[in-house]
Amino acid sequence: RLELRCERDGAGGAELRLDAHPTLTVSRAALLPPPGGPGDAAGQTLPVESRPFASYGSALHIALPQAPRAGQLLTLLIDYEAGEGPGVCWLSPEQTAGKQKPYMYTQGQAVLNRSFFPCFDTPSVKFTYSATVKVPEGFTAVMSATSWEKQKDNTFVFKMSQPIPSYLIALVVGDIVSADVGPRSRVWAEPCLIEAAKKEYDGVIEEFLVVGEKLFGPYVWGRYDILFMPPSFPFGGMENPCLTFVTPCLLAGDRSLVDVIIHEISHSWFGNLVTNATWGEFWLNEGFTMYAQRRISTEVYGLPYTCLEAATGRALLRQHMDATGEDHPLNKLRVVIEPGRCVNPDDTYNETPYEKGYCFVSYLAHLVGNQSKFDAFLQAYVNRFKFQSITADDTLGFFLEYFPELKEKGVDSIPGFEFDRWLNTPGWPPYLPDLSPGQQLMRPAEELAELWAADSLNMEAIEAVDIMGWRTYQLVYFLDQVLQKSPLPEGNVKRLSKMYPKISKAQNAELRLRWCQIVLKNNLEAEYSKVKDFLHSQGKQKYTLPLYRAMWGGSEATRALAMETFSATAPQLHVNVQNYVKKILGLAAAE
Ligand code: BES
Ligand code: ZN
Repeated sequence: RLELRCERDGAGGAELRLDAHPTLTVSRAALLPPPGGPGDAAGQTLPVESRPFASYGSALHIALPQAPRAGQLLTLLIDYEAGEGPGVCWLSPEQTAGKQKPYMYTQGQAVLNRSFFPCFDTPSVKFTYSATVKVPEGFTAVMSATSWEKQKDNTFVFKMSQPIPSYLIALVVGDIVSADVGPRSRVWAEPCLIEAAKKEYDGVIEEFLVVGEKLFGPYVWGRYDILFMPPSFPFGGMENPCLTFVTPCLLAGDRSLVDVIIHEISHSWFGNLVTNATWGEFWLNEGFTMYAQRRISTEVYGLPYTCLEAATGRALLRQHMDATGEDHPLNKLRVVIEPGRCVNPDDTYNETPYEKGYCFVSYLAHLVGNQSKFDAFLQAYVNRFKFQSITADDTLGFFLEYFPELKEKGVDSIPGFEFDRWLNTPGWPPYLPDLSPGQQLMRPAEELAELWAADSLNMEAIEAVDIMGWRTYQLVYFLDQVLQKSPLPEGNVKRLSKMYPKISKAQNAELRLRWCQIVLKNNLEAEYSKVKDFLHSQGKQKYTLPLYRAMWGGSEATRALAMETFSATAPQLHVNVQNYVKKILGLAAAE
């Protein structure tokens, strides 16, 4: 049921056009009488037609009796059924952690919720929602909503009382239970994972929220809960309001991957409150969120550790630009999404909006030259644009308005650093924030990587370095250095593997990813099975695609490994991830 208000006379004629999907079967659309007014409660049936629109969806054309007038309220009732669309994932019991009961989840971002319900599937439109969900006995439903209530007959009623864009509506139905981890936070997981989930985050979430509120203003969403998803969930985390979805890979046992949680919490201000109006400016969500994440991390864990984490992010940006070419049109902050260029908003998901976006926000902070002043700006920015959807022009316009002395100086047009260049020129960021406070953690890792890259290994020097006390991100940074220098001289990686079981036999997903990349780059056939095992164990896009790219770019043997692994795991992967892998393996026709 859609409640709409006509903004302007004659804006769309006597037709309502909604986003939908070929897998969404609409059986009836009707115009309901005004609440309390006369008329048939079942409403007036309207002609409805689904027309082709793009590879990722269709357009639902609904004919209205007459063109609505400005200010007019319309209530439409649409009867539909959602099938096997990309936004609604139906998992068999084998695809869950417990392997007993089926599971379903939705993933809306970027443009997948049009296969969940007909809507204006654009981040430029915000609305409140409510939902009544009836599930079978033994299942629980949760949604991204500010309140929920269980009624009789396994029926759950949800309400989101703040306006949000369509991509933030999310639903999970499964055999899930919860445990408190803070005054406004609980974790949700399948029963077999709930102990581990509680242990991982008990007592740590509240501090992130408190620091976030101190920096960016009130947390408006009420609760902040975390739901651990089945292993095939394609993302590290998804910032569904009130209820972040995360990969079970975060259950590392030592809180080492908590940066993902801080990232999703940061979206509570950047993305969920102030939202990019179009997916072409996705960096407004992710670049500001990376900046906010690292501000919170700095307050909680200190600058050296945060710089180390940021350095691993920079390494990812380097790898991404090397793989795609710096000049690739997606390596701009502002992407043009239109036929003939980048056609699918979901294809803009890469490191550029995150890490180049982070550099741009850091550059703005650098122009201000004072952290507290920039923090105050961020808070004013959130307050100015909360519950709205905006473009980079709004952001930068507000920045110059907030700092008139900078506007006066013409900081938007300093040669080489023009705001326009930041937005519209592909390639490496013109400004990089100083990460040298992380040197104390990075230097030992760099030196150790040097030692391992030598033609004849200096084992005495290597053995003098004790990595047992290193943090996970120090190891990650070390492995990224080793990967950069790979292939290493014959035999070195084999020795490295033996020397550091903490790395080569790691259970931590970030370490496993890097180790697999090193194994492939060095053709360490003896450990190919680790690549296979890792790809069987989870389906996160950012882990899966780099490994398939590495396998496909390698030898006959790694190509065969890719084919074998993909044919075994494809049914478990999210359909978008499946399609991206198919492209890498040359199994899909180009769009
Ligand atoms: N909103 C994103 C995930 C996303 C992006 C889903 C684009 C669909 C389309 C989420 O906030 C995110 O960025 N997750 C990262 C976390 C990381 C940067 C700490 C991830 O999944 O890796
Ligand atoms: Zn994000």
